[in-house]
Amino acid sequence: MHQSEVLGKAMRILIIGAGYVGLSMGVILAEKHDVLLLEMDPSKVESINKGQSPIFEDKIAELLQNAIQSGRLKAQSPEGPLGYRDVVMVCVGTPSREDGSVNLSYVDDAMKLLFERVDEFCDNYTAVGIKSTVPPGTTKTLVLDKIEKGHFTDRLGAFFNPEFLREGTAIEDAKNPDRIIIGASNEKAASLVQRMYMESLGNKADNILTMSLESGELCKYVSNSFLATKISFANEIANITERIPGADFDSVVKGMAADSRICGKFFGSGAGYGGSCFPKDVSGLIMLAKNDLNVATHILQAAQRVNAERPQRILDFLKEHVSDIKGKKIAVLGIAFKPGTDDIRESPALKVMKQLSDNGANVWAHDPLLSRMEISEDIKNQINLTESINECLKNSDACILMTEWKEYIDMGLEAITDTMSNKLLIDGRRAFVNRDIPSGITYRAIGRPN
Ligand code: UGA
Repeated sequence: MHQSEVLGKAMRILIIGAGYVGLSMGVILAEKHDVLLLEMDPSKVESINKGQSPIFEDKIAELLQNAIQSGRLKAQSPEGPLGYRDVVMVCVGTPSREDGSVNLSYVDDAMKLLFERVDEFCDNYTAVGIKSTVPPGTTKTLVLDKIEKGHFTDRLGAFFNPEFLREGTAIEDAKNPDRIIIGASNEKAASLVQRMYMESLGNKADNILTMSLESGELCKYVSNSFLATKISFANEIANITERIPGADFDSVVKGMAADSRICGKFFGSGAGYGGSCFPKDVSGLIMLAKNDLNVATHILQAAQRVNAERPQRILDFLKEHVSDIKGKKIAVLGIAFKPGTDDIRESPALKVMKQLSDNGANVWAHDPLLSRMEISEDIKNQINLTESINECLKNSDACILMTEWKEYIDMGLEAITDTMSNKLLIDGRRAFVNRDIPSGITYRAIGRPN
């Protein structure tokens, strides 16, 4: 009997790359299966094997400890023995190049490593695939073509299985997926990956969609690009709503979303989208269409442009109330690209802080996870970073809320503005938009007419 048909039996999984996708998937799959994580960074390997998560992610600590204690999860450097595997999944980074196109060198390196060691990890039949976000055609070139050229078709099958995890809720999202997409080169590879999920998630894995490798790859880009476009659309509507006295953004969205053809989720206006995924995937799809397919991308480019204008919109609000910001103390609350993460990649807060500093403002910034953040020397030289929210706000001429951390919302407007010289709050995330505004406080929010 083929190993994929032995229902209930733990599978042997190899994951390359222990970043937030690889590690989150690893700890979840290890509840059922035997998982080996390959990671180049020795400090991450050490930390994982001690049961200490190298990344900040809700609920990961407990799952990692359980996985290590059970012996079902282990991390090691790529040189270590691979052991026989049923499924091999590459979860390494695919960063943007300068021009916005996708750098696939880490995926390429991972595949080179694997194809040099097929006898080491394949005893019967192994599904080898990519989970990292890659342009359509990549899995064919970097996996399927190599399988065919190396005459491994009897032993290896190719798959692409995108992730839809959000940072901060990665475990929750991975355990309760809306759908699982499996692009596969053949039925055998697809069924191995399908079984891996079904046995580990049970009836939570009830929406598995199988398709071609290319459709799976494109589906990931299109999903992220659609969500990013939705946010930019919301921000454009917010720009319009702000200028119509009496109009209310939330009421407009509520009325719109009551139409069953329109979903109101992910329609939050604010300082714009950031993070390592939306900006990268929108520009990746634009570059793919332009360079490889000769297709115009008017909507995607507009979504990108609207997002790039968001920091300026925040500054415009500020300048309506503080005509000359030179020398003024401006407090920025929140540096992370969204709450629940220490990730500052493409964070709108960084862009706002830079513009404030370029305009001569005395910028102070606070974030609950400041101590974990990898902030460049460049920014450190321009901005006063503090772990004390009081120090950040004291005697400030304005406060800009850039990340809607619960800490700030729980504090409330009165406490936030208490020690400010000028009680002006610019709410870049509409966090207080439905609260009563105490007298003496000037409150401006994205999408809200003055
Ligand atoms: C995003 C997707 O939501 C995931 O499905 C996907 O798997 C992931 O990218 C990825 O490709 O790895 P993530 O980047 O973690 O996840 O963050 P989101 O929660 O999607 O937020 C992205 C940005 O959009 C944040 O800056 C957030 O503040 C902003 N946003 C989100 C809005 O401005 N408005 C909204 O209504 C929602």
